[in-house]
Amino acid sequence: MAGSYDLVVIGTGPGGYVCAIRAAQLGLKVAVVEKRATYGGTCLNVGCIPSKALLHASEMFEEAGHGFAKLGVKISGLELDLPGMQAHKNDTVKANVDGVAFLFKKNKVETFRGTGKIKGAGKVEVTGEDGSSQTLETKSIVIATGSESAGVPGVEIDEKRVVTSTGALELDKVPARLLVVGAGVIGLEIGSVWRRLGSEVTVVEFLDRILPGMDDEVAKQSQRLLAKQGMTIKLSTKVTGIDTSGSDLKVSVAPAKGEGSSETIDADVVLVAIGRRPYTEGLGLEEAGVQFDDRRRVAVDAHYQTNVPGIYAIGDVIAGPMLAHKAEDEGVAVAEILSGQKGHVNYEVIPGVVYTMPEIAVVGASEEMLKAAGTQYKVGKFPFTANGRARAMGHTDGFVKVLADAKTDRVLGGAIVGAGAGEMIHEIAVLMEFGGSSEDLARTCHAHPTMSEAVREAAMAAGFKPIHM
Ligand code: FAD
Ligand code: NAI
Repeated sequence: MAGSYDLVVIGTGPGGYVCAIRAAQLGLKVAVVEKRATYGGTCLNVGCIPSKALLHASEMFEEAGHGFAKLGVKISGLELDLPGMQAHKNDTVKANVDGVAFLFKKNKVETFRGTGKIKGAGKVEVTGEDGSSQTLETKSIVIATGSESAGVPGVEIDEKRVVTSTGALELDKVPARLLVVGAGVIGLEIGSVWRRLGSEVTVVEFLDRILPGMDDEVAKQSQRLLAKQGMTIKLSTKVTGIDTSGSDLKVSVAPAKGEGSSETIDADVVLVAIGRRPYTEGLGLEEAGVQFDDRRRVAVDAHYQTNVPGIYAIGDVIAGPMLAHKAEDEGVAVAEILSGQKGHVNYEVIPGVVYTMPEIAVVGASEEMLKAAGTQYKVGKFPFTANGRARAMGHTDGFVKVLADAKTDRVLGGAIVGAGAGEMIHEIAVLMEFGGSSEDLARTCHAHPTMSEAVREAAMAAGFKPIHM
C-alpha cells in the first residue's frame, strides 16, 4: 500500500490537474496518477497548446507573405523554417507541461507515473511502465481521463500519412495536398495551419454545413471566409475508403446521402478529425460497477458523482462540450464540493472559440437554439468593416452578433467572427454571468479605437441604433 489520501485524481489534463491543485489549496491531501511522460493531458501535450503555437506562427508567416505589403511593409526572401516553427511549438508545450509539474510541487500534490485502475471505491492501483504496481487508498477518486480521436471505419491511422490531430501537429514537411475529414474545430484549425504554410487543403464534411452546433449565420460567413483564403470545403460528402498502397493516397469520397457518383481525391496526407470519444480503457470501471450514459461517457449526477459513492468524473470523459475550460471549471467545482463548499459550473455561459483567422467565438444561445425553445429574442449586429481599429489593422472580416430577450433585454447569447474574437467574447460572457442586458453593454464606455467597440455597437443595434452604421 503506497499511501492514503483524501483525493486521488486519475489523469492530469486541464480537468485533473486543476482539480488536484484546487483541492490541495483547500487543504485536502491529494495525489495524481498520469500515464503520459508529462502532465497536462491532451490539451497541453497534443491539443490546445501545440495547435495554438502553430496557428500563431503560421499566421505570422501568412501575414508576412500576404498581409504586410498592404501596410507598406515589404519583405523579400521570405522563407519557411518548419523545423524552427516546430521547435517554437515544442518549447511552448515544454514550458506549459513543466509549469504543471511546478504547480504540483508548490501545492504539495503527490504524483504517480503509471496507469491508474480503480479497484473499487477508495482504491486506485497504479501500474508503472515496468509492470510494477502499487495501490493508493483514498476517500475520493476523480476520473479525469479525457478523450481520444474517433476513427473512420476501415481507415487505418499510421500518424505519418493518415493522421489524427496528433500526427498533423508533428509533420516534418508541408504536404502538397492535405485532405481533412471533418469540418469541425480540429479540421478547420489544423487545415488552416497547413494551408498557410503552402498545402492545398480540401475538407470533406458529412453534413451540409461546417461547425455543427454553432450559429448557422456564423458558420456560413466563416465558411465563405475560409473558402476565400483558399480552403476547398466539400459539404454533404463522406469518405468511403483510402487506398494507401501507392505513393499518393487515393481517397474515395461519395455523396453523404448515397445518391450521385463517387470520386477519388489524391492526397499526400489525410487528417481524420471527425470528433473525439471518451477514454475509459483499462480503468476498471465495469468491475467497479460505474455506469455509463448512452454515448459511453461516464454518467454523473449534478455533483459529478457516479453511481458509486466516492467516485467522481469530470472533463471530456463526461457529457458536455469537450473543451479544456469546461474540464477546468468542473475540476474546480468537484474540489470545492469535496471540501464542503458548493462547487458549481454555469453551462449556459461556456465560450467556444475556433482559432482560425478570423477567429470564430460564441457564447450562450445561438439563434437556432432560441427559435427551437420558442424564445422571443432580438438581434443586434455590427460588421468590423465599420470599425476604425479593424480598418487600421486591415482586419475588417467578420461581425458581432448580440442576442437578447425581446421583453427583458437580458443578453442570452453572442457570437463574434473577427480578429481577436476569442478575447472579445468574454465581454459578453461576463455580462451574461451577471444577468446583464444589451442596454448595459451599449451604455458601457468603450475605449476608442478598439475592436471591442464593435461589440458595444452590436448591443446598441439590439436595443436602439448603432452610431457608426
Ligand atoms: P485530457 O486533457 O484528455 O487528459 C486526460 C489525461 O488522462 C491524459 O493525460 C491521459 O494520459 C490520462 N489518462 C487516461 N487514462 C489514464 C489512466 N488509466 N491512468 C493514468 N492516466 C490516464 N479545447 C479547448 O478548450 N481549446 C482549444 O483550443 C482546444 N484545442 C484542441 C486541439 C486539439 C488538436 C485537440 C485534440 C483538442 C483540443 N481541445 C481544445 C480539447 C481539449 O484538449 C480537451 O477538452 C481537454 O484536454 C479535456 O481535458 P481532460 O482533463 O478532460 O482530459
Ligand atoms: P468536431 O465534433 O468539432 O467536428 C467533427 C466534424 O466531423 C463534424 O463536422 C462532423 O459532422 C464531421 N464528421 C463526422 N463523421 C464524419 C465522416 N465520416 N465524414 C466526414 N465528416 C464527418 O470534432 P473535432 O474537430 O474532431 O474536434 C474534437 C473535439 O475537440 C471537439 O469537440 C472540440 O470541442 C475539441 N476541440 C476544441 C478546439 C477549440 O476549442 N478551439 C480545437 C480543437 C478541438
